[in-house]
Amino acid sequence: MAEIVIVPDDQVAGELAAEAILRRLIDQPEPVLGLATGSTPTSTYHAMVRRAAGQDWLKNLKAFALDEYVGLPDGHPESYAEVLRREFIEPMGLVPEQVMLPPGGLDGLSTAAAQYEAAIADSGGIDVQILGIGTDGHIGFNEPGSSLGSRTRVKTLAESTRRDNARFFSSLDEVPVHCITQGLGTVLDSRHLILLAFGAHKADAIAAAVEGPVSASLPASVVQLHPHVTVLVDEPAATKFNHGDYYRFAYANKFEWQHL
Ligand code: PGA
Repeated sequence: MAEIVIVPDDQVAGELAAEAILRRLIDQPEPVLGLATGSTPTSTYHAMVRRAAGQDWLKNLKAFALDEYVGLPDGHPESYAEVLRREFIEPMGLVPEQVMLPPGGLDGLSTAAAQYEAAIADSGGIDVQILGIGTDGHIGFNEPGSSLGSRTRVKTLAESTRRDNARFFSSLDEVPVHCITQGLGTVLDSRHLILLAFGAHKADAIAAAVEGPVSASLPASVVQLHPHVTVLVDEPAATKFNHGDYYRFAYANKFEWQHL
């Protein structure tokens, strides 16, 4: 069951996402959050920091990242470990040990993938997973052609993804070719998915993800198989929906008991 909410901009989306995430986590004895990277989750992280940084319950929080580049040196500013440290871990007042990423070091990668899956399972599973979407329809780094049942593994990045992410590096050549990412099956195990899409360049991908056929060719379409998905889309990203008017109507007229 997906709820699709069209909002004016990413700031409003960030507030709604933060509210839904915090409501879900705050009463859990052992809350587990799934983190995303890229520019999409920034407004959500800012809103979470404004609302909850330093709160006592955060001491019990565990978080798992979706993915990491393979082969970047430790401490590389664009490794997702560093991005999350700067953008989420420190501003929230967490300690680094509370947040796990799939390890992108070259040694023991296949064991690392299995261990990451085991660590997620041992935590009791992810309560709420934040997701962005790539222009090619990836979630995490599950590029087109990814098995809908896939688990954490090493993948080769699509050229389009490397080009999209080249803005974070000084040249395209510096963007890693490989990554380690939670699989689509791993993502589906999370209890609530919050999928965010902002900007006109995401309009085709997000429309295909929620309205198109479920297909390995558009990996984000796998969210249609999940029982609890919230999709937050800004106006420019909402232009390609076939049922945009319906989503607006449904959100404006939702039942009292419905919430994100
Ligand atoms: P972006 O990337 O947030 O930087 O647009 C999203 C993604 O590739 O998943």
